[in-house]
Amino acid sequence: MARCKVKGSANGPKCEPRMTDTKFQKVRESTKRAGVMGWPVDHSLSPRVHGYWLKTYGIDGRYDRLPVAPQDILTRLRALEADGFVGCNVTVPHKQAALAGVDEAHPLAARIGAVNTVVVRPDGSLYGFNTDGFGFIENLAQGHKGFTAASGPAVVLGAGGAARAIVAALLDAGAPEVRLLNRTIEHAEALAVDLAGFGVGMLTVENWTSRADALAGAALLVNTTTLGMQGKPPLELDLSDLPGDALVNDIVYAPLETPLLAQARLRGNPAVDGLGMLLHQARPGFEAWFGRSPEVTDDLRSYVLAGD
Ligand code: ATR
Repeated sequence: MARCKVKGSANGPKCEPRMTDTKFQKVRESTKRAGVMGWPVDHSLSPRVHGYWLKTYGIDGRYDRLPVAPQDILTRLRALEADGFVGCNVTVPHKQAALAGVDEAHPLAARIGAVNTVVVRPDGSLYGFNTDGFGFIENLAQGHKGFTAASGPAVVLGAGGAARAIVAALLDAGAPEVRLLNRTIEHAEALAVDLAGFGVGMLTVENWTSRADALAGAALLVNTTTLGMQGKPPLELDLSDLPGDALVNDIVYAPLETPLLAQARLRGNPAVDGLGMLLHQARPGFEAWFGRSPEVTDDLRSYVLAGD
């Protein structure tokens, strides 16, 4: 049985280490700790992102992968403060459960139905928010100068968790129209019901089979499905009707250049890859935990892509 420290106890009672982390007991009291809870979480690039920033800004902090099984997520969140954490990210499959696990959620996170960032407040209570939509918008703004959601209709493919945050962010940022298309139309309809009344734009659900037609007049095309991801089939989409200046974005970042992005660039459309969304969505959490607003730079991109 290992020993772990509990707040208010000088030596700490005997207990199991809360997190699967061999260096758990070596962390100094002053070191601010955060991490990402997921199941599995081995693939997560977040430790590389936050690790880079901690080093770059000379902050006494650490950020770890925290494997947490679905049945343990609420307990683990509740134990954050006792475990010496200032907060954490939550990723698949915990984002919905985390919403129920925090004491207070940002209205946007409540609307989306998912929390990806948790902060332990000074009184020990947990505050949850969702930074996926922020990361999405910031990635487009950085990757394509002059981008604004208000510039025209957006076509969003997919209706999973990522699509939920992206559609909310687009409407929130003033998109006049969002056309949502998904293989299972019921999932798109459910999303549209949940986000009804968000922003001033119109949210319409269209048939997956007519996705090529939905591109007419669009200013933005976003793929949030898993199609095009390593090991998955490519997204089959005829881009003929897409205006030549429409921005194309794929939230898939493995590979970085998906078949969709390659196809878009080939016909002259501007295109932004998905890595930046991952990098930008990490910024608000880092700032809340470690007190410094971090930057997404080319050097960070290269470092993250280089892998462990
Ligand atoms: P995430 O939370 O990252 O968005 P997800 O919830 O698993 O991931 O969503 C995956 C999306 O990819 C869904 O929109 C899914 O469509 P369904 O709702 O019909 O499942 C979409 N998707 C996955 N495989 C697909 C395929 N072969 N063809 C079309 N869409 C697919």
